[in-house]
Amino acid sequence: MNSDIPLQLLGGITAREFLRDYWQKKPLLIRQAIPDFESPIDADELAGLALEEEVESRLVIEHGERPWELRRGPFAEDEFSKLPEKEWTLLVQAVDQFVPEVSELLENFRFLPSWRVDDVMISFAAPGGSVGPHFDNYDVFLLQGHGKRNWKIGQMCDSESPLLQHADLRILAEFHETEEWTLEPGDMLYLPPRLAHCGVAVDNCMTYSVGFRAPSASEVLTHFTDFLSQFLTDEERYTDADAQPAADPHQIQHDALDRLKSLLAEHMSDERLLLTWFGQYMTEPRYPELVVGPEDVEEEDFLSALQDGAILIRNPSARLAWSEVDDDLLLFASGQSRYLPGKLRELLKLICAADALHTENLGEWLNDEDGRGLLCELVKQGSLGFADE
Ligand code: SIN
Ligand code: CO
Repeated sequence: MNSDIPLQLLGGITAREFLRDYWQKKPLLIRQAIPDFESPIDADELAGLALEEEVESRLVIEHGERPWELRRGPFAEDEFSKLPEKEWTLLVQAVDQFVPEVSELLENFRFLPSWRVDDVMISFAAPGGSVGPHFDNYDVFLLQGHGKRNWKIGQMCDSESPLLQHADLRILAEFHETEEWTLEPGDMLYLPPRLAHCGVAVDNCMTYSVGFRAPSASEVLTHFTDFLSQFLTDEERYTDADAQPAADPHQIQHDALDRLKSLLAEHMSDERLLLTWFGQYMTEPRYPELVVGPEDVEEEDFLSALQDGAILIRNPSARLAWSEVDDDLLLFASGQSRYLPGKLRELLKLICAADALHTENLGEWLNDEDGRGLLCELVKQGSLGFADE
C-alpha cells in the first residue's frame, strides 16, 4: 500500500505522517474517519454474543452491588433486563472473530502490521456508562459506532500511577484532564499507550476499540528463553577453560561475568530462532480452541473440492504472518511456523492477504507440489477452512 496518500481514516494525513507524529506518541482526534459509519451490529446482537460460552464479555456497573461492579460473561438473557436505566457498560472482546463485517473494518488499518492487531472490542453503554478513568498499555483506535460518547484525556501514566482500591479494575485515583471531545458515529480517537482516558456515554452508545498487541520486555525474555532452552543440551554450560588463578577464592571476578555475557549473547543473537519465536508468539491465537482443523485431509480430496468450486477462507480466529531469512521464507500460522522455499513468496502473500482462496486466484499454485502441500497443511492445522456453501 502507498503510505504517502492522505487517508480520510487519519483525518487527511498520510500513514507515514501518522506513524511519524502520532503512533505511540500522542492522541489524534479524527472527525468522520469513516464517514456516515453505521455499526454492522446493534446492541441486541452484541448482547446476544455476550450469552455465548466462547465469547469473552464483561459488564461494568458504576453503582452496582459495590462501586464499579465487574461481572464476567457469559451472561444469562434475563441479566440484561435487570440492569439499571443508566451508568453501565457491556464490553465484548474480539468481535472481529465472530462477525465478518467487524473483521472487515480491520482492512482500514493495513498501514500497520496485521500481527500487531489484537482485536476489535465493542462496548455498549447506557447513558452515563463508563469504565472509569484508566490507562491501557497498548495503542487503541476508539471508533464511535452508534450514539454519542464524551471522551476526556489526561496525563501519561505508568505502573506507579495511583489506582483506586478495586479487586478487578484498574481505575485511576487521579485524573488530570487535558482535553475533551464528544464523538459521534464515524468519529475516531487514537490514543497512544499509557495515556489516561475516560469515555462517558451521552446516550445509548456503542464504541469500537481496535486494540494492538505488543509483548512486554518481561514476556519477551521469559517466553524467548523458554523457547530457546528446548534447543540446548545439558552439556552446553558456563565454561572457564582459560581461567586465571583466583586471587581470592570467594570473589566473583568480572571475567566470570564476561564469560556469562558471551554465553547469553551467543544464544540470544541467533536470528533464525529469534524470528521463529517472535513470529510464533505474535501469531498465537487469542482463542486457540477455535483454531482446530479436521483430523485428516487427503490432498487428492482437497484438490478435487477446490476444482469443484469450493472456496477456502481464513479461520477468523487464525493469525497469519510471513517473513524471510536468507533464501528461505517462514510462514507463521496461529503460533506455528514452517520454513518454505523462496519460490512460494507470492503464494504466502496471497494466503495472508486474500479474503478467499479458490481456483481462480490460486491458479498455477495448485500445480505446484509445495504450494498444494502448504495449503493442505493449513487446512489440517485449522488456519484455513472450506467456506460453507
Ligand atoms: C469503552 O469502550 O467503554 C472503553 C474503551 C477503553 O477505554 O479502552
Ligand atoms: Co481504555
